[in-house]
Amino acid sequence: MVEANDSADDDVLIDVRSLCKRFGTVVACEDVSLQLRRGEIHALIGPNGAGKSTLIRQISGQLRQDSGQILLAGKDVSKLSMTERARAGLAQSFQVSMVIPEFDVLQNVMLAVQGKSGSTFRFFAKVSQQEPLLDKARDFLAQVDLLDRSSIMAAELSHGERRKLELCMALAMEPKAFILDEPMAGVGAAESRAMTRLLASLKLKAPVLLVEHDMDAVFALADRLSVLVYGRIIASGTVAQIRQNPDVREAYMGDLEDGDACASGLEDSDASMSDQRDIDASMSDSNDSDDETRA
Ligand SMILES: Nc1ncnc2c1ncn2[C@@H]1O[C@H](COP(=O)(O)OP(=O)(O)O)[C@@H](O)[C@H]1O
Ligand SMILES: [Mg+2]
Repeated sequence: MVEANDSADDDVLIDVRSLCKRFGTVVACEDVSLQLRRGEIHALIGPNGAGKSTLIRQISGQLRQDSGQILLAGKDVSKLSMTERARAGLAQSFQVSMVIPEFDVLQNVMLAVQGKSGSTFRFFAKVSQQEPLLDKARDFLAQVDLLDRSSIMAAELSHGERRKLELCMALAMEPKAFILDEPMAGVGAAESRAMTRLLASLKLKAPVLLVEHDMDAVFALADRLSVLVYGRIIASGTVAQIRQNPDVREAYMGDLEDGDACASGLEDSDASMSDQRDIDASMSDSNDSDDETRA
């Protein structure tokens, strides 16, 4: 499953090799290999319970794999703690919110800038007097269009604004890669376009590994897609390749057509559970050929 080329490829920032993770009898991640290349948004899609978050959490170090490796810029980080990986430039955003509700928006971003510089959050009192840090934090807030909310308590932000703040904090950490698990979850239609634009702007700074249910956003953003089903990647490729892939088409029953991207069983719902069973059936038909579905 691992690509034949074992030597360090400068283009590959994150190289996931044959990752496996079980929870009791549940195989949440089975021989998963995936690469995040410089300059790209690589989206990871799949039904509820497919193992997307489990994969992301193993990459960020929140969860230890049973076997397999994760390389960051050619260096094996599989045994590093989450904190060590974050320092190395690999920090997960979303689902684990970094936002401190009792602090105002600006203070939260300052903490993220500060976290990047390696000091601990506990020294905040001193940090708050540092003018360069303030300037930097304001600059990041301007980038996500939240500057006018600087002095609002984070707890008082709307849901969409909070998501922007989280994105801002991810930016402020200046990571080598953005690892985003459902950044648009709960964001309303009106705000989702602004969020999509913000996500698109991230890849100018660092490549993005994106788990997202909003298929309109995924298709608009992704340079490449990987489809995860029952812990296995059944296909990887460009949006066009994934749309045409017979296994994926069967799994999603036509939901990958233009203009109908949203009405899919990819959402967290009972429908997605029944899709998972359909996908199970489709996988048993295609087990012999899933290597060939990789692009
Ligand atoms: N901490 C855990 N303990 C036990 N089972 C888990 C745990 N985390 C995830 N799982 C199981 O692993 C599978 C994949 O879950 P998850 O990675 O959250 O999927 P996704 O993010 O694609 O919805 C599911 O069957 C889920 O119930
Ligand atoms: Mg998840």
